[in-house]
Amino acid sequence: MSGSSSDSGRPINRYAATSVRAAAKRNSGMASVETISINRGMGLVSAQETVPKRSTRPTVIRSNRRVMVYHPSSSFYETILAESQAVDKALGSLTKSDYFSMLFSPSASDYGGAMSWLKKLALVTAFVLVPTTLAQPWGELVIYSGRSEPLIVPVIQLFQQQTGIRVTLQSGAATALANLILQEQPNPRADLFIANDAGTLEFLKLKDALQPYISEQIRKIPEQFRARDGSWLGVSGRSRVIMYNTKLLRPEELPKSVFELGDPRWKGKIAMATTRNESVIAWMTALRLVKGDAFTKEYLLKLKANGIVTLNGHTDVRKAVGRGEFALGLVNHYYYHLELRDGSPVGVIYPDQGPTDTGVLVNVAGAALIKNAKHVREAQRFLDFLAAPEAQKLFAELNFEYPLLPGVPTAPGVRALETIKRMPIRLDELGKELEKTLKLLDEVGLG
Ligand SMILES: [Fe+2]
Repeated sequence: MSGSSSDSGRPINRYAATSVRAAAKRNSGMASVETISINRGMGLVSAQETVPKRSTRPTVIRSNRRVMVYHPSSSFYETILAESQAVDKALGSLTKSDYFSMLFSPSASDYGGAMSWLKKLALVTAFVLVPTTLAQPWGELVIYSGRSEPLIVPVIQLFQQQTGIRVTLQSGAATALANLILQEQPNPRADLFIANDAGTLEFLKLKDALQPYISEQIRKIPEQFRARDGSWLGVSGRSRVIMYNTKLLRPEELPKSVFELGDPRWKGKIAMATTRNESVIAWMTALRLVKGDAFTKEYLLKLKANGIVTLNGHTDVRKAVGRGEFALGLVNHYYYHLELRDGSPVGVIYPDQGPTDTGVLVNVAGAALIKNAKHVREAQRFLDFLAAPEAQKLFAELNFEYPLLPGVPTAPGVRALETIKRMPIRLDELGKELEKTLKLLDEVGLG
C-alpha cells in the first residue's frame, strides 16, 4: 500500500523531513509534531511527521527511511510504553520478520526522559514490530554477485520466501562487477554487491562506491569479519590451507607450515592458483602484514625457486592434486571438501597452528550496500537476513564455508571456525595494502 494511511482511518500527512518543519509552522493549530530520530545502522535519521491532533489511537508512520510509532497524548514516551498492548491491538497482525530497532532522541531537555523510556522499552521488547499492511511496498532488489550461481540462488530464494521482496540477480566475475559498479556511479543499477573476498569489497569502499550499514543483527558478526565503518559485511569464512594427495604423502611426511614449502624437498610438488586470484593476493598481503615485506619476498622467491606451478584457478589446483599431478596444493579450505566430495584421495592441512605460529588467513565472502542505491531499505533487509542464523547456515553450507555468526554450526565434516588459529589481522586492512603486494609480486615474478 502506498500513499497516506493510518490505523485509525485518518490520513497521515507524509512529508520529507525538511518540508514538515515548514508545514508545522504554517499549521501549528491543527498538527502536533514530534521529532524522532531513528537508529538506522550507522546514521541517525531525523524525521518529523504531522499527525492529526484529534487522533487518540497509536499511529505507525513508515516511509522509506523511517518508522515511527506516534501516540498523540501529551506524554509521548511514557504513553507508548504503558499502552504497548493498545499499540499491538491497533496494529493488528504483526509480522515478526519485519522489525526495526528504534532510538527516540528528542531535544536535549527531554533526553533523560527518553533514555529512561528506552531502558524500559528494552526490558519489554527490543523491537517495534510493523505490520505489512501499513508498510510502504517493497521495491525490487538488484544484486550483483561474484559468487557462482548455485551458491547464491538458494539463498536468494529463501530471502524471497521470507520477505516477498523480488530480487534481480546479475552474476559474473567479481572484479568485472566491481568495475561495473564504479562505472554506474552515481546512478547505480545494483543495490547490493556480493563478492568472494574482502579485498574486492574493500576496493569498492576505498573508491567511495559503498554506503555503511550496521544493525543489531550485523553487530553479532565478529568485528574482524566486517568493515570497521560498516561498508561491507562478511557472510562466510574461508581459510587458506594446504590440500594434499593421500596416495602421494604419508601423514608423517606432511608439512606443518606454509613456510616449509620453500624447502627444496617440495621442489616440483606444489600447485597454487595464479597470483591474479583475489584469495591468493589477500593471503600474500596477510603474510606481508604478519611477517614483513623482506621475509615475504624471500619466501615467495623460495617458492618460485621450488618451481611452484600457478594454475588458472583453485578448481584446477584441487583437480590436479586430486589426480595426483601434485602432492600439495595451496587453496581455500572448501576446495579440499569439493575434491573430497568428487571422490578423490585428498586430505587437508591447517598449517601454522602451533602456539607461536602465525595461524591461517581466514578471508570472507561478503556483501555490501552500494552508494546511491535505489532500494536501500530492501538491501539493508537483505544484509540483516544474511547475518541471521538461517541464511548463515545455508550460505556457508552450500560451499563448505564457515558461518561467521557464532553458534551456527559448520556443514558435517567441516572444521569449526573456533578451532582454527587465525592470523591476527583485520580484513579491512588488506585493501589499502593491495598495491604494495602487487608491486612485490612484480618484483618476484610469480605468475
Ligand atoms: Fe573460490
